[in-house]
Amino acid sequence: MEWLALALVVLAGASLVYFTLRTGISPMPSNRLQRAAILAAAGETPGPIYELGAGWGTLAFALADRFPHAQVIAFELSWVPFAVMRLRQALRPRKNLTLRRLDFLRAPLGQAQLLVCYLFRGGMEALKSKLEQEAAPGSRLITHTFAVHGWTPQAEQTLADLYRTRVYVYRLPPSPG
Ligand SMILES: C[S@@+](CC[C@H](N)C(=O)[O-])C[C@H]1O[C@@H](n2cnc3c(N)ncnc32)[C@H](O)[C@@H]1O
Repeated sequence: MEWLALALVVLAGASLVYFTLRTGISPMPSNRLQRAAILAAAGETPGPIYELGAGWGTLAFALADRFPHAQVIAFELSWVPFAVMRLRQALRPRKNLTLRRLDFLRAPLGQAQLLVCYLFRGGMEALKSKLEQEAAPGSRLITHTFAVHGWTPQAEQTLADLYRTRVYVYRLPPSPG
């Protein structure tokens, strides 16, 4: 039994490392201030809302609770955080939340009215090209920490957290910066 537990821990650790290397970012969650700022910046939206790289579900579950009438779709590639989201959803289901273990760069994003993410420089570059081709006119992207280079945000703010996190709101199609 102990061996089984140890094997599971090693497997989970290896999986986390593998997907961190594959996607370019660990499943580090947004902090409390970042989450609050994203929810505030979201304003009102009928949805659908796409969380791109949902990690453990910090933003996805908060968005589903904040917008009970909007469909929220959470994309996550890494098995361990995805399994944790599945567990959270099983323990306290949100009817409006759909979990997808998928690479969002291979998913159609044109239906989303609001897109939310916390990624890294390379991830933002890849997302930028994709959204320039397929984002719904009038939809919005809210992100923190990493801006989309070459786009002018509709709004931005600096949070009073340890990292002085920058939060960016873009209206799509974007204005060139
Ligand atoms: C820094 S975490 C952010 C988690 C969550 N959004 C939050 O703010 O708490 C980034 C997550 O994006 C996921 N990710 C990165 N690129 C992805 C892709 N192309 N498709 C799906 N998930 C991706 C990573 O696995 C990681 O869990």
